[in-house]
Amino acid sequence: MEPTNISLHPGEKTSGTHSTIWLDTISQQNFETLTSDVETDVLVIGGGIAGISTAYCLVKAGKKVILIEDGLLYSGETGRTTAHIVNALDDRYSDLIKMHGKENARLVADSHSAAIDFIERASRELQTDCDFTRLNGYLFLHDNDTQKTLDDELKATHEAGIQTTMLDHVPGIPAEKGSCLQFPAQAQFHPLKYLNGLVKYISENGGTIYTHTHAESFKEQEVKANGFSIKATHIVVATNSPINNMLTHHTKQHAYRTYVIGGLVPAGAYQQALWWDTGDPDTKWVIEPYHYVRLQQYNNRYDLLIAGGEDHKTGQEDDENLTAEERYQRLEKWTRQRFDKIKDITYQWSGQVLEPVDSLAFIGKNPSDEHTYVITGESGNGMTYGTIGGMLVSDLILGNQNPWTNLYDPGRITLMATGAFLEEAGNMALQYGDFLKAGDVKSTGELANGTGAIMNEGGHKVAVYKDEQGAVYAYTAVCPHLGCVVQWNHDEKSFDCPCHGSRFTCEGKVINGPALSDLAPHHLNHQTDNK
Ligand SMILES: Cc1cc2nc3c(=O)[nH]c(=O)nc-3n(C[C@H](O)[C@H](O)[C@H](O)COP(=O)(O)OP(=O)(O)OC[C@H]3O[C@@H](n4cnc5c(N)ncnc54)[C@H](O)[C@@H]3O)c2cc1C
Ligand code: FES
Repeated sequence: MEPTNISLHPGEKTSGTHSTIWLDTISQQNFETLTSDVETDVLVIGGGIAGISTAYCLVKAGKKVILIEDGLLYSGETGRTTAHIVNALDDRYSDLIKMHGKENARLVADSHSAAIDFIERASRELQTDCDFTRLNGYLFLHDNDTQKTLDDELKATHEAGIQTTMLDHVPGIPAEKGSCLQFPAQAQFHPLKYLNGLVKYISENGGTIYTHTHAESFKEQEVKANGFSIKATHIVVATNSPINNMLTHHTKQHAYRTYVIGGLVPAGAYQQALWWDTGDPDTKWVIEPYHYVRLQQYNNRYDLLIAGGEDHKTGQEDDENLTAEERYQRLEKWTRQRFDKIKDITYQWSGQVLEPVDSLAFIGKNPSDEHTYVITGESGNGMTYGTIGGMLVSDLILGNQNPWTNLYDPGRITLMATGAFLEEAGNMALQYGDFLKAGDVKSTGELANGTGAIMNEGGHKVAVYKDEQGAVYAYTAVCPHLGCVVQWNHDEKSFDCPCHGSRFTCEGKVINGPALSDLAPHHLNHQTDNK
């Protein structure tokens, strides 16, 4: 494996234009590209935490494993995370108990606790210095929420086996005047330093990693990638959004974008902890956007305070009349009101999370498929869910019993009963109305350099991008997955699909499934190609 010094296209290093503290503080390794037909016991597709954890478990168990990744490792959401590792989940335990019962809520808590332990153990065994730290987490009320949420959660977490405590203040945030729920034994780490340790183990113990290797098509026990055949007894699809089927998972989970800022604070100014608010109950979205905060050592003088939130459904930011820049500003204001020692904001980035309608990830055998497994629907808990994915899928492949098999079964049928399912399905159907809307611009002459837009041309929706030098690129704006109209994401310079979250670079290359192929090139006629 070599450090990266090759020239990269957008999307190959990371799935947006903004970089992150994690990507800036490791060397993102480059491996060989697949150039021949190969065979293996297990093919893992996806070089994020889910794929790498799975490959690690299976190599450790003596399996022959190939992992393929179409950019560099960590170029998906794993490079854009905030890396809280917790059993205090995005979704309330009170809701999990209502949907899945007390026993299952207990299993959920156990599985996330086991994932934290797994990360701690693996980093110790591999002697990986990844800043792993155990700390408390504090859940406090969103400005629009009421005490009942915390009271219900105290009871529900106890029923799920988590020893939470109600405190009458929020440690570390004097500006918050209410009570909070303390979650013990949570953790944080530098996710990419941790994964570099697993990757080193994989490549030194017989596993094979190919980067710049794009999975293009699936047959039973065979995947075509870069035009070559990979035959495998088992195939694990760990591409965040599954790319192996058109429909199965994509009506059961929904893509949201979430925003992050990183501000410098004097080293040691705040105690190490994780903080979350309970989310905005007045939001228009099914998933209530919430704020999440942690610290990361930056240098001898400063820590970086990393805060996130301001989520919206992918490709639908305009529905709240808020641009990404305004969302960063709101996030900064919220954060400075609570952490007044912040000096400069040195980072801002955004990323995508997939929210399952019944609040549990989908991990296990792909429905009605004997040899293919998926790990998806990890919402904002993908560090632990990706790790659970590695543990559970490797057990399934190795024929070991695992207590979480039914809980996370991708074929489970509780889904249709939820109000969230119907509401999100309605939202998805509405997106097809975009075909009737006016374009963002009438001609490419209206585009500033370095920006993109959707344009109407002769009854067609066209995605256009003008690069920094003024060269114009045009593609059909119709998503190759199921035909919605993609939207321009000015913040990360990508075309994002509002229906199921496929994303494409400004050069039209697919960077996020479920779409498997790029946006098709389009020839502009001279009236609209007004440079
Ligand atoms: C801003 C933000 C904050 C978050 N904070 C937290 C947090 O604090 N705690 C937490 O637990 N979780 C958090 N999450 C969620 C977590 O980061 C993700 O759920 C997790 O990283 C997903 O990992 P993954 O391996 O499933 O997917 P990814 O990391 O996206 O990996 C999938 C990989 O598959 C590759 N791929 C896709 N298609 C193909 C193909 N056709 N061929 C080959 N390769 C392909 C992609 O390039 C990608 O690298 C956060 C997410 C975001 C965006
Ligand atoms: S992601 Fe499904 S239509 Fe675009």
